[in-house]
Amino acid sequence: MLCIGDVLDREQVAGLRAEIDTLAFVDGRATAGWAARLVKNNEQAEAGTRVDALRKRIASHITDNELFQIAVRPKALTPLLISRYWQGNQYGAHVDDALMQGMRTDISFTLFLSEPDSYDGGELVIETNAGEQPFKLSAGSMILYPSSTLHRVAPVERGSRLAAVGWARSYVRSPEQREILFDLETVRRDMFEREGKSNAFDLLSKCSSNLLRAWADD
Ligand code: NI
Repeated sequence: MLCIGDVLDREQVAGLRAEIDTLAFVDGRATAGWAARLVKNNEQAEAGTRVDALRKRIASHITDNELFQIAVRPKALTPLLISRYWQGNQYGAHVDDALMQGMRTDISFTLFLSEPDSYDGGELVIETNAGEQPFKLSAGSMILYPSSTLHRVAPVERGSRLAAVGWARSYVRSPEQREILFDLETVRRDMFEREGKSNAFDLLSKCSSNLLRAWADD
């Protein structure tokens, strides 16, 4: 699980929100599997040309983000959903579909588009070995979590919660391997900052690159 701050800056969030406000929304159950449909109670921007363009724009901000690239190693993304929860809306515990439009889902993500103080409730709650963990990030920030987890969106008790959600297929299927690659890449960048392209840096680059080669399914 990883939180990435400021995927979008304030201006970008404001611009997107203004456009999203003019879109038509439909019942979110349309895109849920039969069991998730029982607990899903929100709305989503209705598919159409303007929504498609908007989704692509948001997706390119996400895929351009360096942390996203090294944490996810994305091979492909599903089209994003723009979801809105009004007061009383929620999404009960569910697991995301393993396959979406023929693509295996490895990583789920939520990009928050409402400021946390503008609504009450509406936390994304993820089940972990250490118990439930709630997330409510600032507008423009994003959380990534394994698609294999049970998770829910707590009821919104005031205001409205706007978010873009999506799924990525990773070149590296295993979360443990992705974490090792992420840590190695972090160390590699730190090392470069400190000592430039040293022999140790080259050797670490070789390890990191060859592990990715060994673990990637292309
Ligand atoms: Ni979900």
